[in-house]
Amino acid sequence: MKFFVDTAEVDEIAELNDLGMVDGVTTNPSLILKSGRDILDVTKEIAGMVDGPVSAEVVALEADAMIAEGRKLAKIADNIAVKVPLTWAGLKACKVLSSEGNMVNVTLCFSANQALLAAKAGATFISPFIGRLDDINLDGMDLIADIRQIYDNYGFETQILAASIRSVNHAFQAALIGSDVMTAPPKVIKQMAEHPLTDKGLAAFLADWEKTGQQIL
Ligand code: E4P
Repeated sequence: MKFFVDTAEVDEIAELNDLGMVDGVTTNPSLILKSGRDILDVTKEIAGMVDGPVSAEVVALEADAMIAEGRKLAKIADNIAVKVPLTWAGLKACKVLSSEGNMVNVTLCFSANQALLAAKAGATFISPFIGRLDDINLDGMDLIADIRQIYDNYGFETQILAASIRSVNHAFQAALIGSDVMTAPPKVIKQMAEHPLTDKGLAAFLADWEKTGQQIL
């Protein structure tokens, strides 16, 4: 499973990128606001830091305006994936932008039927939002599983990008079901390294090592 980092904070991206953990980056208007940066500047900087796709989101609501914004965002760098919302206008924009050779990430997906439409419109990525479904007491993982089955049934090449990942369990479940990609905040990716038995075992080893009186260096 590919790891995208869901942030517009360049320092956090750099730290994970140095470890080889970054296959791409996703941003959205809320993350751009949080960064306090200009969208064009920060997207260009991020796109220069990582080899994989960097999603930058349009904010227009009409298809023609989305297409114009998407073309402008795509010019920032070769590895930009234009992010469009899963609306009828967004699907139109997806079709045009993908036909022009751009990567397109269709975002704000909350149903398998929406994902089916995105695939038919030529989406490179479909972004089902797991955490936001969990927020309203639905199981976001059921959606990932349904999309996986439908895409496999018909051989769609659109990649499932599990988004709105809020916990290490979300990451685990998305991998188990067969998401092609997950995008998660840096904090969640780091938490995946944690286990209480690792901490306990390390403490025991270090206590015994102390008793040997030896040193490695
Ligand atoms: C993905 O592309 C979105 O930016 C993100 O995953 C949304 O996550 P949230 O629901 O935690 O805001």
